[in-house]
Amino acid sequence: MTHATLTPDAKPETAPAAQDGGQSRKVFVKTYGCQMNVYDSERMGDALVRDGYQTVDTVEAADLILINTCHIREKAAEKVYSQLGRLAKLKRERNAEGGDLMVAVAGCVAQAEGQEIIRRAPVVDVVIGPQTYHRLPEALARARNGESVVETEFPAEDKFDGLPNAPEKAIRARGVAAFLTVQEGCDKFCTFCVVPYTRGAEVSRPVDRILGEAERLAEAGVREITLLGQNVNAWHGKGADGREWGLGELVRRLATIKGIDRIRYTTSHPRDMDDALIAAHRDLPELMPYLHLPVQSGSDRILKAMNRRHTAAEYVKLVERIRAARPDIALSGDFIVGFPGETDADFEDTMQLVREVRYASAFTFKYSIRPGTPGADMEGQVDEAVKTERLAQLQDLINQQTRAFGRECVGKVVDLLLEKPGRNTDQLFGRSPWLQPVIVDAKLGEIGDIVRVRITQPGTTGLYAELVE
Ligand code: 5AD
Ligand code: SF4
Repeated sequence: MTHATLTPDAKPETAPAAQDGGQSRKVFVKTYGCQMNVYDSERMGDALVRDGYQTVDTVEAADLILINTCHIREKAAEKVYSQLGRLAKLKRERNAEGGDLMVAVAGCVAQAEGQEIIRRAPVVDVVIGPQTYHRLPEALARARNGESVVETEFPAEDKFDGLPNAPEKAIRARGVAAFLTVQEGCDKFCTFCVVPYTRGAEVSRPVDRILGEAERLAEAGVREITLLGQNVNAWHGKGADGREWGLGELVRRLATIKGIDRIRYTTSHPRDMDDALIAAHRDLPELMPYLHLPVQSGSDRILKAMNRRHTAAEYVKLVERIRAARPDIALSGDFIVGFPGETDADFEDTMQLVREVRYASAFTFKYSIRPGTPGADMEGQVDEAVKTERLAQLQDLINQQTRAFGRECVGKVVDLLLEKPGRNTDQLFGRSPWLQPVIVDAKLGEIGDIVRVRITQPGTTGLYAELVE
């Protein structure tokens, strides 16, 4: 499980295999995109296990192939279609041998393309959007009766009500750091973004559901939870005290759960960073000093065209307030270069903002036209070559900052949550409070332990540390 941000990336992840034996049907889940998709894949896997399936980790062993897709940037849909082309061949071969391989497409491409997927790729038996995952077992049953099923509406019922909690065994298999979705969807309508269309309107999960899930995770040995939402800091709900809570109050309550020693959340919008959340960073040792706070651009003109509804100066001021509350906080962000109308001067404003803020890490993207979003029809689309050049410059600056941040950590004594074995058997892998990957000697502790270490040297992708006597 990756643990960075809610930023989609191209890296596929596979759901962990369940250990149940027997003659059950077998499902292979392949996940693209952000942590929300990883979380959703796990919940769909749990629903299928409850329905008698077993999860497997190869296509060859599967009777059902479930692809959870991402639509945030270009080419995602085309990649899904070429993968479906390969699966069509596999299905033909299997079915010629008397098998009955099924294929289901979930996620944001499913939501955006709907029926079109079955038209272009008849290999697909079920198309299911992110809001209807609780109907997956039923959809598969209908498909087994020969129907092509497309479930992409936004139903009134809550999908989480219909999705099971993970069995404790499955939670253990997933490790000591887990995701927990608290909010989904987005009402912000940034002009480049498909999320408000594919994930729908902002919905917060109720407090008791979140606390219940966090308690179950803690009982199963989870020590760190990352609260997920496309706009996680827009989360709100009625608290146990009858008042309306925001994310700050929720985190405060979650921090009291025995066993939950570390809390993170992602992804935040600058407009929703309220005082209570900033105060939580000041007061709670459990709330890790890491914040993914995308700004996208440092130019006011572009921010306006993007409909971000704040200026660069307001963002920098906000960062100052957050750092006043939690001076060691590591900041991360997302940036888009080459948004329609972006001039050299606008791009220089972005570089300037990055120099001013000093990020611990950041994700950089070339603007990618998403049909149906306002940005797609804007004038002044930027040349691909210009985007490539700007991306390289920005990445270079951010890489320098990331390396500098790593160097500054050398000599510091930090708590490390040991998450899994390292690449070498005599090493363990953990995360610093600032989310950096850290490698230590395996003799230092066991998975699930939080150990005090001193950072000794920066590596190529992370840091090395030794035990503090
Ligand atoms: N083009 C490029 N990057 C995008 N992102 C979202 N939509 C687009 C797009 N159309 C980036 C933003 C966002 C992150 C999740 O993906 O930076 O914060
Ligand atoms: Fe997309 Fe903007 Fe909503 Fe983030 S805040 S999900 S970028 S519309």
